[in-house]
Amino acid sequence: MAKDAIELLKADHEKVKELLNELTDTTTRAEKKRPQLLDEIEQELEIHTHLEEKIFYPAFKKAGNSNHDELYFEAFEEHRVVSEFVLPDLKKTDPTSDKFSGRAKILKELIEHHADEEEKDMFKKARQSLTAEELATLGEEMNQRKQELESEKS
Ligand SMILES: [Fe+2]
Ligand SMILES: [Fe+2]
Repeated sequence: MAKDAIELLKADHEKVKELLNELTDTTTRAEKKRPQLLDEIEQELEIHTHLEEKIFYPAFKKAGNSNHDELYFEAFEEHRVVSEFVLPDLKKTDPTSDKFSGRAKILKELIEHHADEEEKDMFKKARQSLTAEELATLGEEMNQRKQELESEKS
């Protein structure tokens, strides 16, 4: 069976967490591997963030009156910290430096924290406030968009 919206987002989380683990396992000798992994992480995050901000979060907000608003706005801000500050900084950092190692670790911690919060809080509330059918339909829409975005990039 096709993944519903939450299963799709969780699968993305697993994938990006694996990549982040790989990244933080590298050393200052991984001059080529580090930027490669970082590129992959960036692409994954870009697509995942798009799916959440354009499709999932608005559906979540709409399903909850005002009680979902706090989580909704907090999630956007956490995305912004990563995409506008932490990730661009890391991309500018010399991959053979210890600074890179430190910044990669922070990126990993921020994303793990954010994904965890989504899964424990937002997704849980989404399961309660959206029907199985709604989550399945959202999942289809997100899967389709994901494939479009992936083909644009390749
Ligand atoms: Fe997110
Ligand atoms: Fe997420």
